[in-house]
Amino acid sequence: MTKPSATGQPTHSGKQRSSFSGKMGYVLAVAGSAVGLGNIWRFPYLAAKYGGGIFLLIYLLLMLTFGYALIISETALGRMTKKSPVGAFHSFGKSLPFHFGGWVNAVIPMLIVPYYCVIGGWVAKYLFEYVKGSAAVLAEDSYFSNFISSGASAEFWLIVFSLAVFLVIIAGVKQGVERVSKIMMPVLVILAIFVSLYSVTRPGAMEGVKYLLVPNLDNFSWMTVVTAMGQMFYSLSIAMGILYTYGSYLKKEVDIEKSTSQVELFDTAIAILAGLMIIPAVFAFSGGSPDTLQAGPSLMFITIPKVFAHMEMGDGFGILFFLLVLFAALTSAISLMETGVSTFEDQFGWSRKKCSLLMAAIILVLGSASALGFSSLDFISLLGMSILDFFDFLTNSIMMPLAALATCFLITRVAGLDAIAKEVEQSSAFRRKKLYYFFMKYLAPVFLGIILISSIANAFGWISM
Ligand code: PFF
Repeated sequence: MTKPSATGQPTHSGKQRSSFSGKMGYVLAVAGSAVGLGNIWRFPYLAAKYGGGIFLLIYLLLMLTFGYALIISETALGRMTKKSPVGAFHSFGKSLPFHFGGWVNAVIPMLIVPYYCVIGGWVAKYLFEYVKGSAAVLAEDSYFSNFISSGASAEFWLIVFSLAVFLVIIAGVKQGVERVSKIMMPVLVILAIFVSLYSVTRPGAMEGVKYLLVPNLDNFSWMTVVTAMGQMFYSLSIAMGILYTYGSYLKKEVDIEKSTSQVELFDTAIAILAGLMIIPAVFAFSGGSPDTLQAGPSLMFITIPKVFAHMEMGDGFGILFFLLVLFAALTSAISLMETGVSTFEDQFGWSRKKCSLLMAAIILVLGSASALGFSSLDFISLLGMSILDFFDFLTNSIMMPLAALATCFLITRVAGLDAIAKEVEQSSAFRRKKLYYFFMKYLAPVFLGIILISSIANAFGWISM
């Protein structure tokens, strides 16, 4: 392994590796990747369904321990090797387990980004309709199902959203990814604070605030833990090659531990704010009826427009809310696509443009399949799921735990925990080193095995999550 310079070392193809300009750019770009549909669309519906305050408490505990250890691991491996996941694993060996470990991490974002862009397209369409003044139409019962089964319209919005992502990627790491994150993330925070303040001050909303923030042991179940663990992976962009890739663009002087804490803080703050935007609004609207709280994935696209339609200034609230979701989805989709592009650059030595075009083609083909899976391709059912749901299941429930297990294996059996500690210590003291060692050695493999088995059991209907 060669020692990388602060400006990046030549890649496979002899080009200089891109890098972030400094700590701020890095933290905002990683936070941009982490804060996405997972925070605003997924976290509130899971928190609503799995017990409110108790779900939040377990989520926080897992994030500060297990999540923290995994983020540090991936970032340090990326920075140490200056490579995206395949190259990072290959730096330690070329036999089958290394190929598997690298590629499973690298392929995940390539499979996620197409369906993520489909949902991003739905968000763009909702924003467009709110701006047009069609709030009442969006609140109609069958609007969402009619829209997603409309084929051409869903495909059109997929293309619009993907094109925006593509243009940022083509612009490069500093000019594109970093610049967009630096603008969008602060705007996102301001919008989130504003919208949640509005929501919690509606009459009847306080019950919702209590439900989200105060843990109630009666609401605890084993599935609360399993779901919180899965959500942590999803939300923090762990086990999908992203943190390897962004770590590889990170300069040696940046404090990995501190940036990790900042990213976690940022990501969790936005998730809690999203919970505060949605759950109190649902309580104000329905008095917290169990049916509404259990709405699941459709909470944002079906329930929320109905809630807005009953609120004063609901139309303006709708515009701000979907603008916020769009920003969050864009920065995350950018990080997913960037990871794919970076893998192709490293492995094939092609130009950034060529790699971006290949990723765009993958998005278009797989994304169209997911988008049309609710219309012309609705006869296709994979394990009883639509194409979009199947990609979500395959990546999140099967591949991500495997990818994280591969990272644990690489660190504990090959690279050594001390090598990671040394990498972290290049810029500062490793303050939570003991905790890190304990988690990587003992708890991470057990936790990962539990997620994998429970998710599979859930998908096949053996247990119900
Ligand atoms: N962490 C981001 C989010 O919460 O939306 C992006 C993301 C990446 C989500 C990968 C999900 C995923 F599988």
